[in-house]
Amino acid sequence: MTDIQLKLDNIDTFYGQSQVHFGVSVAVPRGEIVCLLGGNASGKSTTMKVILGLHKPRSGNVVFEGQSLMGLSTAQIIRRGIASVPEARRLFSDMTVRENLLMGAFSRPDGDGIKADYERMLELFPRVKERLGQRAGTLSGGEQQMVAMARALMSRPSMVCMDEPTMGLSPLYVDKVLELIRTVNEQGVTFFMVEQNASLALQIAHRGYVLQTGRVVLSGDAPSLLGDRRIRDAYLGGVLAAETAS
Ligand SMILES: Nc1ncnc2c1ncn2[C@@H]1O[C@H](COP(=O)(O)OP(=O)(O)O)[C@@H](O)[C@H]1O
Ligand SMILES: [Mg+2]
Repeated sequence: MTDIQLKLDNIDTFYGQSQVHFGVSVAVPRGEIVCLLGGNASGKSTTMKVILGLHKPRSGNVVFEGQSLMGLSTAQIIRRGIASVPEARRLFSDMTVRENLLMGAFSRPDGDGIKADYERMLELFPRVKERLGQRAGTLSGGEQQMVAMARALMSRPSMVCMDEPTMGLSPLYVDKVLELIRTVNEQGVTFFMVEQNASLALQIAHRGYVLQTGRVVLSGDAPSLLGDRRIRDAYLGGVLAAETAS
């Protein structure tokens, strides 16, 4: 039986009167990279907020490691082992890169472990190491994405949620970031990754879900999604919308 580490079960989410999720269910198997695909405003970032306890769904359940996360604070959820790299990275731009990394470990009591992980991050992200004393706001988008990833890993998570990790990056950094996600995944960290760019995400993901105006309209393993004509159409809106409407 597959070991499902994170499960979203029949989630309905609203902003005021406006419904964003309609019965969204997603399963993230332990050790995999799972991507949530979908066009602009389909509800991807809201899914991340629901997982992290930043926005409460009206109904449904989020289960992590067999326990519901509903009603927990974001800090409590992070302590359970989920880290996040939010949309647009959200570094503390006036703090140095070093300070940003250490902020990632704020929930940890183990000083020695933090030091070891800090050293490990500098090895994994040599580019970050070169920039330690610099203010994070002065870094390029690609460098900031790496700092955000390293910061997330400083909480020693078992799962990392990333919102549009390749957005706005130069092609060189897109490849680097995807490669780093794959490397960290191979070290045993599960990834749940939100992406508009399906072909990029499916290069590294094991499986994916396609969200369209708040509904999961397609899911499967990466090879079958890559071969699915509707994946392309989903981003143009037309065909998939017509098919689901009929
Ligand atoms: N804080 C908010 N208040 C009201 N509406 C919101 C808020 N955040 C997002 N929305 C709306 O919810 C829908 C889904 O947004 P979002 O989850 O950010 O989509 P995506 O990440 O797929 O672009 C959009 O129509 C968006 O305008
Ligand atoms: Mg978004």
